[in-house]
Amino acid sequence: MNVERRRFGQWLAGLRQMRLLRHAATVAAIGVAAFGLPALAGAANSSAGVTRIGIIGAGKMGGTLAGLWADAGYPVMISSRDPNALASLAQSIGHGVRVGAPANAVAFGDVVVIAVPYGAEPKLGQEFSPRLGGKVVIDLGNPVPARDGVMAVAARREGTGVASSKFFPGVRLVRAFNAITWVDLRKNAHRAGDLQAIPIASNDQAAIAIVARLVRAAGFAPVVVGPLSSAKRFDVGSPVYVKDLTVSQLRAKLGLPAAQ
Ligand SMILES: NC(=O)c1ccc[n+]([C@@H]2O[C@H](COP(=O)([O-])OP(=O)(O)OC[C@H]3O[C@@H](n4cnc5c(N)ncnc54)[C@H](OP(=O)(O)O)[C@@H]3O)[C@@H](O)[C@H]2O)c1
Repeated sequence: MNVERRRFGQWLAGLRQMRLLRHAATVAAIGVAAFGLPALAGAANSSAGVTRIGIIGAGKMGGTLAGLWADAGYPVMISSRDPNALASLAQSIGHGVRVGAPANAVAFGDVVVIAVPYGAEPKLGQEFSPRLGGKVVIDLGNPVPARDGVMAVAARREGTGVASSKFFPGVRLVRAFNAITWVDLRKNAHRAGDLQAIPIASNDQAAIAIVARLVRAAGFAPVVVGPLSSAKRFDVGSPVYVKDLTVSQLRAKLGLPAAQ
């Protein structure tokens, strides 16, 4: 496991170098990194006025997103049930990324990302929902029956937006980043030309605005699909799931009006 993590960390470091070169000009031009502007994110701000991101599950998705947001100037904490195993990943991400246990990430984040196997979400929700109350929670998990068991079948049937909201009562839940592969996440961030679109669903408009900003900071283009019940439209098995689509392509496939 540690060897795998070390390899992931080394690979991530190489990737980040390439990506940083690619969008350094943009970042420099708008002075974002230097002045911390992307971290100014309205209602999700901590008292210091900076959106802090806690990530539960620093695997392929959580680890990659941590790197993208740390590059964009956000304070990030990655977490593991074995925090010592994250040392090399943290080193490769740099930017003073914090490391902790899931409880630390919950306490740290104004925005908390759930990036674990979907079958682990009910237990996480039971343990942490009281402490996540009022926080923006990004759920990117996908129910996979072969991995997650029978709960995944039920979640697919009712849609993840509805299913996950039962696991995490009282949080400002947003479905996002579930319909992109981790490979596209690392490869396509800040790409030239039309950005890859990321569908988002939530019942909380302010949370949608915060997550849309984080999608842009990660190098993608947000598309708001609708309330949590609409997350089903970009769940596993939907026509837009893990397709590399631009904003206009995604909107067309979902029958959403063209963007202004
Ligand atoms: N891979 C993709 O391309 C992709 C794309 C979109 C969505 N997703 C979804 O995103 C989620 C994460 O996928 P991934 O590919 O990033 O997985 P991953 O690389 O296996 O990482 C998952 C992380 O979750 C943590 N974890 C595992 N079991 C846990 C438990 N019972 N309680 C708490 N934490 C636990 C592990 O961290 P520790 O062992 O260190 O605690 C692990 O690092 C999944 O639901 C997946 O379906 C994946």
